[in-house]
Amino acid sequence: MRAAADVLSDFDLDPAVVHLNHGAYGVTPRVVDRAQQQLRERAAGNPYRFNRIEVVELLAAAREAGCDFLGLGPDDAALVRNVSEGVSTVLAALQLQTGDEVVVCDHGYGAVRLAVQHWCDRAGAVLRVARVPLAASDDEVVQAYAAQTSGHTRLAIVDQITSPTAAVLPVAAVAAALGDVPVLADAAHVPGTLPTDIAALGAAFWVGNLHKWAFTPRGSALLWAAPPWRERLHPLVLSWGSGSGFPAAWDQPGTADHTGWGAIPAGLDYWRDLGAWRRTALSEALVIAGQHEVADLVGTELGGLPPTPAPTMRLVRLPAGLLSGPDDVEPLYDRLSTEHHVECAPVWFGGEGFVRVAGQAYNSVDDYRRLGSAQRCARLPVDRGVGRGGRDALGRARRHAPPSAPHTSAASMIRYEYPCSARKRCRCWAKSASTVSRATTA
Ligand SMILES: Cc1ncc(COP(=O)(O)O)c(C=O)c1O
Repeated sequence: MRAAADVLSDFDLDPAVVHLNHGAYGVTPRVVDRAQQQLRERAAGNPYRFNRIEVVELLAAAREAGCDFLGLGPDDAALVRNVSEGVSTVLAALQLQTGDEVVVCDHGYGAVRLAVQHWCDRAGAVLRVARVPLAASDDEVVQAYAAQTSGHTRLAIVDQITSPTAAVLPVAAVAAALGDVPVLADAAHVPGTLPTDIAALGAAFWVGNLHKWAFTPRGSALLWAAPPWRERLHPLVLSWGSGSGFPAAWDQPGTADHTGWGAIPAGLDYWRDLGAWRRTALSEALVIAGQHEVADLVGTELGGLPPTPAPTMRLVRLPAGLLSGPDDVEPLYDRLSTEHHVECAPVWFGGEGFVRVAGQAYNSVDDYRRLGSAQRCARLPVDRGVGRGGRDALGRARRHAPPSAPHTSAASMIRYEYPCSARKRCRCWAKSASTVSRATTA
């Protein structure tokens, strides 16, 4: 297996930045970008023939490669741009009526919930939320969904891997418990991380992004539907494929740049070349080690987290003072990103602050050490009211202490936390001494 630094050189990722959020938008290696570029050049060489003739075969082949990757037959899933498109495609097909209900879960993705709310509002339907404790067992997840389901429920959306909490939810058990209620599995993070027999889940619909973990260009996803549902589904945008049925109708979404979908096979090939499921297992071992590293550095416990975590993502609880509410999430992200050059996902869930980290083949344990050090360094003063954006009561920017500074300033009772071990690359380090001395005289 190739070493992290070697794999990193496959990508245009900025090597000065620690990239611990692969799952957010996915990253394509240069070899995939080149495959897409070659298709662009082909299209540029003869736009008419490319778009009128060649694209049809190209996209059917891309869909078939994607279906094969997911263990599906070539016509079992339709090309969509992303999970968002897949979710709205399903919601459109349901033709919700006044009084109908759709169940989502409180670990669900925010944009999906907004879409559900929209489709419910326009029909006079009701969105219901299954409340699932962070460390819920599978049975508790099933009970939470069952408690929100009634004779009015037209759809339950279950996140196979949750976004804010990086948990694997028991889609099959929920689907079995809900009986006739159709289940849509939001599998945004699943392709390339969690081997799944999609048809065996018992769901009516399943939609997964290939662009997150399977290295395909952004905007490539597949929507599977159980056979009885296929004829009720239609692409959200109707074009020449209209009337061609599932999944061919989705292969012709009108004039667009189709080269991303055309390069799907190149992304899947890269995933295989990198080691396929053996690589996923290594990434899992890495992110577990990284999770422990970060937790040790920031001094928090790993208990009370999801019992079945996502293979390649993990949560770490943050110490008091880093996040004190949902409004602190963006400022903390911004400080970690701009001052420490660490990309990760701070999360506020269930009244607590966490950071979600990912593990990918280009990561090493050092990356998590840098995050842990940055978190310690970025920790806000905890003994005074800390305003948003890391500002003190007078609106001045908070900074961490310089290496030699005491951790506590008795005069002001502002407690500064540890020095940043990434200081060679940490721009805030140079600024910190003067800022701290001004802050402590407040
Ligand atoms: C669980 C989950 N569902 C849905 C989405 C939406 O994906 P997209 O923006 O590609 O539609 C995401 C994106 O991160 C996600 O994590």
